[in-house]
Amino acid sequence: MIKFWSYKQELKKYNKKIKSQINKSLNSGQIFFGKELSKFEKNFTKKYKSKFGVAVGSGTDALFIALKALGVKKGDEVITAANTAIPTISAIRNTGATPKLVDIGEDYLINTSKIEKEITKKTKVIIPVHLYGQTCDMDKINIIARKYRLKIVEDCAQSQGAKYKNKFCGTIGKIGCFSFYPTKILGAYGDGGFVLTNDFNLYKKIKRIRFYGIETVDKKNKFLNKYYSNEDGINSRLDEIQAGILNFKLSILDKLIARRRYIADLYTKELQSTNLKLPKLNKYSTHVYHLYTVFHPRRKILIQNLKKNLIDTKIIYPYPIHTMKAFKHLFKNNYNLKKSEIKSKGIFCLPIYPELKNKEVLKICNTIKKILIKIK
Ligand SMILES: Cc1ncc(COP(=O)(O)O)c(C=O)c1O
Repeated sequence: MIKFWSYKQELKKYNKKIKSQINKSLNSGQIFFGKELSKFEKNFTKKYKSKFGVAVGSGTDALFIALKALGVKKGDEVITAANTAIPTISAIRNTGATPKLVDIGEDYLINTSKIEKEITKKTKVIIPVHLYGQTCDMDKINIIARKYRLKIVEDCAQSQGAKYKNKFCGTIGKIGCFSFYPTKILGAYGDGGFVLTNDFNLYKKIKRIRFYGIETVDKKNKFLNKYYSNEDGINSRLDEIQAGILNFKLSILDKLIARRRYIADLYTKELQSTNLKLPKLNKYSTHVYHLYTVFHPRRKILIQNLKKNLIDTKIIYPYPIHTMKAFKHLFKNNYNLKKSEIKSKGIFCLPIYPELKNKEVLKICNTIKKILIKIK
């Protein structure tokens, strides 16, 4: 079986390194806020050339904390893409704010020409979601944000390491949010997330919110840790075991991303003569290929036949936000999110992860070609 993904393949390859990191953390005598976390926060922030970084419990928390730090609350509106992951919306909803959805383009990213139509007096933030591993058109989004005095919170959960022009995603808006969910570009062996910002005051606020509202940083950026809360916060910590694993994986991250790109190029080369719609690449962005997403109107039969040939695929995501029971009631008024709806009915993702072998990629491509001839 060619799996869509399994952490076991990575664990097999890096068994010694990962287990020695786990042991190091366990032997340190510190479960939270120890050396591994400090090292990880420092190195992650430096890698992406940002000024400040805070590790948190998940990507969803990262988004929620970012919005809360910007003062987003009940009565406010936050604009994002209709095809995003559910957690983008969960984070918005948990602040009490209302999401406003914008349709996507051929690249599966927010259609910037449709954002202004959704802006009202209540709008506070735009969340561009850099879906699948490629960045949104940030210059256009910046212009809109400046015109209407809105803040940008980048959802980089699927695009860590991707660049928009010369800048890493997550450093272009006011705050950048990342996820270390195991399947992600930089995956932990549990949950984890990260928040980047260049604004010192926001950084302090983010640190407070992650830790029950307690002030942990003084004017000289020194760790304080008092048993005194200054504002409403939550508990969102990245533990030492996860931080240790992530420290190791961050050190080989460029290699992991290069391998994803290689696999994607192989898919593209092998499949470009077929009638599958392959990922549309934007010239202003690099692609880190968290996912290799293709489109075909007869997706179901393709997926079924691939399964018969022991090849796993996934539909990410099958339901646009406004079509789900939890959110339907928020979008009663006239909206036009047709492209998201059409795309959700034909997209599916092929396996892509650093440990996937070239011969497996070729097998997937040859099987797809055979199925396509059969179903013509
Ligand atoms: C686009 C997007 N945003 C946010 C998240 C939330 O991340 P997490 O699962 O770490 O909470 C995810 C991951 O599932 C995601 O894909």
